[in-house]
Amino acid sequence: MLKVINVAGARPNFMKIAPLVAAMKRRPSQFQSILVHTGQHYDANMSDAFFRDLGLPAPDIHLGVGSASHAVQSAAIMKAFEPVVLEQKPDWVIVVGDVNSTLACALVCGKLDIKVAHVEAGLRSRDRTMPEEINRLLTDQISDLLFTPSSDADANLIAEGIPPERIRFVGNIMIDSLSANLERAKGSKIQVELAVADKDYALLTLHRPSSVDDRESFIRILDALEQISARLPIVFPIHPRARKMLFEYGLSDRVEMMGGLLLIEPLGYLDFLNLMSGARVVLTDSGGIQEETTVLGIPCVTLRENTERPITVEMGTNTIVGTDPAKIVPATFSKLEKQIEKDQYCIPPLWDGHTAERIVDALIKQSAMSDY
Ligand code: UD1
Repeated sequence: MLKVINVAGARPNFMKIAPLVAAMKRRPSQFQSILVHTGQHYDANMSDAFFRDLGLPAPDIHLGVGSASHAVQSAAIMKAFEPVVLEQKPDWVIVVGDVNSTLACALVCGKLDIKVAHVEAGLRSRDRTMPEEINRLLTDQISDLLFTPSSDADANLIAEGIPPERIRFVGNIMIDSLSANLERAKGSKIQVELAVADKDYALLTLHRPSSVDDRESFIRILDALEQISARLPIVFPIHPRARKMLFEYGLSDRVEMMGGLLLIEPLGYLDFLNLMSGARVVLTDSGGIQEETTVLGIPCVTLRENTERPITVEMGTNTIVGTDPAKIVPATFSKLEKQIEKDQYCIPPLWDGHTAERIVDALIKQSAMSDY
């Protein structure tokens, strides 16, 4: 029996940890799963809604850390997580994605000589101004097993000197949650509630420091949104960070006044999946949404200068445009004009809804090898 601590902290972690917790619960004779929530995200609509929608059991341990600067938040997670690891003495700790909780918990394990596995390893934007890139680089260096979503991630790890025997290409864990919930998401009434019609609206998300913490780039994005919303309504579930920055920059009124922009609170997983599947185009600075739109075949315009998920551009429906309205607007309009046909994109290998099973199999195999 393997005792595994599964760690989740922020919104994009929940859809990655849920399939793993479920896969372990399906094998009670092989796994004892302990779910730890660091509390990095704590609002009802940034956290609780995801536990409900994804059928995640309540966390066994909640560290209640909350928001703070990077150093204070990371230190608080480490301080709270260390006694948990010392008490539980797990065989493995699993961390997912690239948020501060991911690195902080991996670092605790590295120092205590507890085995840690990183799910979604090897992605690189090569932009070290992104806090997530630092989290990705360091987590991968100290993890014992690296579960990668695509072959470019394997190549990145090898180039950084990670021994190949620590790397396992298992596919994209987030697509396990998407596949498991797509049918249920169709039952959401969110389009009716917002009075938008299928394939007749754009969906927007924004939260990265590079888009919203910089007043000039936020204004540039708003300029583009003004032009796009004159042609197509834009639904904008606004992240708390973006809302806070709009207010600080005195831009809230401008956004509230934009006729075609529908500003709403952040949505749960099923409502958001419903809106994403029904969108004519998605505009985003998120990483995960680039992947989800690729699998759904929905055109995606990424408002960033780079991506750690190049496979969504090479094989999928994604275009990287940055924050310049002169690029955002034509790229979006061109996606509106040309319908994407099924033969113009494909779903990357092993983004098939069975990644969690491959991961739990690999953990069992790896542990059997270490015992031997
Ligand atoms: C974090 C992750 C980012 C991920 C994003 C998804 C890091 C470095 N960043 O960014 O990779 O894409 O989550 O959402 O880990 N806040 C609330 N309620 C909450 C959570 C946050 O109001 O439940 C507000 C707080 O004012 C906080 C701010 O949002 O200061 C930012 O939260 P934080 O967790 O620091 O980073 P995110 O921008 O959410």
